[in-house]
Amino acid sequence: MMEKGSKIFVAGHRGMVGGAILRELRRQGYENIVTRTHAELDLTCQAAVEDFFRAERPEYVFLAAAKVGGIVANDTAPADFMYVNMMLEMNVVNAAWRYGCKKLEFLGSSCIYPRLAPQPMKEDCLLTGALEKTNEAYALAKISGLKYCEYLNRQYGTDFISVMPTNLYGPGDNYHPEHSHVLPALIRRFHEAKVAGAPEVVCWGDGSPLREFLYVDDLAGLCVFLMNRYSGNETVNAGSGQEVSIRELTEIVARVVGYEGSIRWDVSRPNGTPRKLLDISKAEALGWRASTPLEAGIALAYKDFLENPVRTER
Ligand SMILES: NC(=O)c1ccc[n+]([C@@H]2O[C@H](COP(=O)([O-])OP(=O)(O)OC[C@H]3O[C@@H](n4cnc5c(N)ncnc54)[C@H](OP(=O)(O)O)[C@@H]3O)[C@@H](O)[C@H]2O)c1
Repeated sequence: MMEKGSKIFVAGHRGMVGGAILRELRRQGYENIVTRTHAELDLTCQAAVEDFFRAERPEYVFLAAAKVGGIVANDTAPADFMYVNMMLEMNVVNAAWRYGCKKLEFLGSSCIYPRLAPQPMKEDCLLTGALEKTNEAYALAKISGLKYCEYLNRQYGTDFISVMPTNLYGPGDNYHPEHSHVLPALIRRFHEAKVAGAPEVVCWGDGSPLREFLYVDDLAGLCVFLMNRYSGNETVNAGSGQEVSIRELTEIVARVVGYEGSIRWDVSRPNGTPRKLLDISKAEALGWRASTPLEAGIALAYKDFLENPVRTER
C-alpha cells in the first residue's frame, strides 16, 4: 500500500490520463508527488531518465506518458509511434527497477489485443492472433512494455503491474481534427457545426459499430486502486462494461452539445470493426466498477472543452 507521504512519480501528468491520476492522488491525500513536463524531462532520453531516477528515487511510478494518437496519426507515422513508445517505456521501467522503485503501474491500451479476438476481450487473449494493422506499431510497443514489466517480475522479483483501458474521454482530451480519437473528434465536429449553424453533419459508415467508453476519472480511480490492491503478471482490463453504437454515441454528443441540425450517414465510408468491448470481470472481481454514466461524462468533457484552451496537438 502507498503511504500518504510515499514519493510517487506520475509520468505524463500533463496528459489526459496522467492528469486524472494526479487529481485522484491529490483527492485521496497523497502529498509527495513528483512530476516533470516533457520539456523538463524527455523520457526517450536514457541518460536524462537515469539522472532523474538517481536523484529522485520515487517509490511508486504511474507510467502514463506515451505518444498517443488516433487512426490517422498511427497509420501515417508507425515508426515514430514505435520508437517513442518503446524508448520511453524501456527507459522508465528499467530505471524504476534499478533504482529500487517498490511498484510501477504501466498504462497500455486495448489495441494490444488481436484484431479478431473473441468479444468481450479477456486479458488472456493477448498474443493469440494478428493485430489491427493501422495501430500495429503502437500495440507492439505497448505489448513490449507490459511484457518487460512481467519479465522483471519473473527474473528480479519486482512488483510491476499493467492496466489496459478501453477508449477514454474526459478533461484534457485531444481535439485535433485528424489526430484525435472518435469521441473528442465528435464533440469538436458537433460543436463547430452548432457554432457555424450547419444544417447537417456527415458521419462515416452506418453508425452500427459497437464501442465502449470510459470516463478518465473512473480510470484514475482504478489505477490508484490497483497500485494499492493488485499484484500480478497478467494485465488488468479497464472499461465501463457498457456498449454503445456509434449512432447512439453521435446522438448523445449532438444532444449534449445542443446541435439541432440533422446527422447523415455516409455508407460509402468504412464502418471499422463491428464490435470492440473489454471483459472487465477481473477488475470487478477485485472490487472496482466504473461510476460515470456516458451522457453525464460527455457533458463533463464538453464543459472542459468549452472552458479550457483546446489541446489540438500531441
Ligand atoms: N486516450 C485514450 O483514449 C486512451 C485509451 C486507452 C489507453 N490510453 C493510454 O493512456 C496513456 C496516456 O494516454 P493519454 O490519452 O493521457 O495521452 P496524452 O494526453 O497524449 O498524454 C501523454 C503525455 O505523455 C507525455 N509525453 C509523450 N512523450 C513524452 C516524452 N518523450 N517524454 C516525456 N513526456 C512525454 C505527453 O507530453 P507532450 O504532450 O508534451 O508530448 C503527454 O503529457 C497511454 O499509455 C495510452 O495508451 C489512452
